[in-house]
Amino acid sequence: MDVIIRGTADEAVELTAAIIADAINAKPEFTLGLATGKTMEQVYAKLADLNKAGKVDFSRVSTFNLDEYIGLAPEDKNSYRYYMNYHLFSRVNIDMKNTHLPDGMAKDEVAEGERYEKAIAAAGGIDLQLLGIGCDGHIGFNEPLSSLTSLTGAKVLTPNTLEVNGVYFNPPSSMPKRAFTMGVGTIMAARRTVMLITGKVKAEIAKKAIEGPVSAMVTASALQYHQNAVVILDEAAASLLEMKDYCRMLWENDPKWKKFHR
Ligand code: F6R
Repeated sequence: MDVIIRGTADEAVELTAAIIADAINAKPEFTLGLATGKTMEQVYAKLADLNKAGKVDFSRVSTFNLDEYIGLAPEDKNSYRYYMNYHLFSRVNIDMKNTHLPDGMAKDEVAEGERYEKAIAAAGGIDLQLLGIGCDGHIGFNEPLSSLTSLTGAKVLTPNTLEVNGVYFNPPSSMPKRAFTMGVGTIMAARRTVMLITGKVKAEIAKKAIEGPVSAMVTASALQYHQNAVVILDEAAASLLEMKDYCRMLWENDPKWKKFHR
């Protein structure tokens, strides 16, 4: 796992967007896995800027989001479909019919999980999966105790996630208690994963996910088994890492990161 530390959240965001743009430029017919949440808003703003400046083209990109709340329709302002349309899809030259999220209104939940897995496979698999991390260590909505080989399906959210994300709902208690999410196994099947972690509030969980034992209690730790995973942190999120000095050496000395030096 390559762990990269940048000074500020802005620099971490800029590097994340630059890696995505670089990967799309190398393979224009690209399948991109996407995440939602506060951390990603800046990444999408940056990608929209790069698209506007002609530095990345989304016209042949297909996207698959990690998750969607069960019971929320696409037009619901709290749905992840609404979030994606607002923060990214309406701001770049992507073909909307190539943008995919689980259907939060699907009646048959098992069938919806299978449909999503098949759609990902039909698109040739995910080239790069963008990830954030929850304070409980979740990737997508793979909460603690989730199987580390799970595929897309319905998940019950933890009290921690309900508390953290409930602030976006009015009243907070109206937040759905379940969501569809790609499984940890689905995420692990992506050819490459890029996780972005910013802010002091994530320092403890970042340490557990990156340096702790691999455990279903911190589903992000499964990425330690991924062959092409990078985690990008700002100084605040990296503050508790034991391997900080080595991470800095990696950024300075691994030739593959040279082209991203500014
Ligand atoms: C949502 C998702 C989640 C978030 C995580 C962090 O699609 O994948 O795992 O990445 O909950 O969210 P923020 O950035 O709001 O702290």
